[in-house]
Amino acid sequence: MSENSNPHGQTTGHVWDDTLAELTNPPPKWWMWGLHASWILVLVYGIYYPAWPLLDTYTKGIAGWSSIKEYKEDLKEVESIRAPYEQKLKGMSAAAILQDAELKEYVSRSAKVLFGDNCAACHGSGGQGNPGFPSLVDDDWLYGGTIEAIMQSITNGRKGMMPKMGGQQLTAEEIDKLANAIYNGKVTEEPLYMAKGCVGCHGPDGKGMQALGSANLVDKIWRFKAEDQLASIKYTITHGVNDPTDPKTRKAEMPAWSGRLDETQIKKLAVYVHQLGGGQ
Ligand code: HEC
Ligand code: HEC
Repeated sequence: MSENSNPHGQTTGHVWDDTLAELTNPPPKWWMWGLHASWILVLVYGIYYPAWPLLDTYTKGIAGWSSIKEYKEDLKEVESIRAPYEQKLKGMSAAAILQDAELKEYVSRSAKVLFGDNCAACHGSGGQGNPGFPSLVDDDWLYGGTIEAIMQSITNGRKGMMPKMGGQQLTAEEIDKLANAIYNGKVTEEPLYMAKGCVGCHGPDGKGMQALGSANLVDKIWRFKAEDQLASIKYTITHGVNDPTDPKTRKAEMPAWSGRLDETQIKKLAVYVHQLGGGQ
């Protein structure tokens, strides 16, 4: 059998076992086209788009595309959607924003980032509070949950004041009595509550006064939450809150944001916090 008379096409010329030959047929046309199309595509892509890494830069491509440029264009589009909202917000009070469902929705979303950046470190990422830092989600307010009160809290800051009662004012036994009564939500039934002047700040009903930020002592929602709640209550009574005469006093200060955030940002945050707390 001659070399090229194989019915299947050209062979390498080697023949084994009489009839076994190796074919050298060219690949089919469609396959070759595919090959050429793909290297041409690579070339065109490489010329058009940023592609090849060089020593300290890369080929930029003639199309002028870059991912950062695309991102910036996207951002511009977002800004142009935001602009009319932002413009509107400037002239509105926080209370008016609450009345406008669409704006309220927009504000809550954009305030989430502001909250994460400025408030979450103390109040927790969802506003759920941290030891020493009050929860903003429970609709139990030291200073009030109206939109105006929340605006005030954020703009001017807050710093509650309770004098230490340990030492001369109260004996250990009296502190025990008061603490247990508070722990059980029944402090107004404890005669010491009146006699020792707690009533002056925490009110006749024990619910606290929002003008002072004095905590509600009868709702069993704890401003200074702790594993051992009874011990925490005793500690507060003994050392007070922000009492400069007691080095062990509790520190509780909400910073003022008026110089650090602009008016619109504060409004947004107030609306956001108002919604977290279920409003009022
Ligand atoms: C450095 C910690 C800290 C940061 C940051 C902080 N807060 Fe506060 N915040 C506090 C403390 C502490 C209190 C309670 C003050 C007190 O007990 O007198 C408080 C109280 C509040 C209150 C009043 C709560 C009530 O029950 O009446 C609001 C509202 C509030 N913060 C919102 C915010 C918002 C919004 C931000 C972000 C712009 C923020 N806080 C950032 C520490 C912080
Ligand atoms: C001058 C006002 C004032 C007086 C008097 C006062 N308190 Fe307070 N008390 C406060 C304020 C304000 C707070 C909240 C501080 C804060 O969170 O910034 C507070 C907080 C507390 C807390 C913490 C509650 C919690 O949820 O963790 C306890 C407990 C407490 N007071 C008990 C007493 C008792 C008992 C007396 C009387 C012996 C008393 N207080 C007298 C102002 C006062």
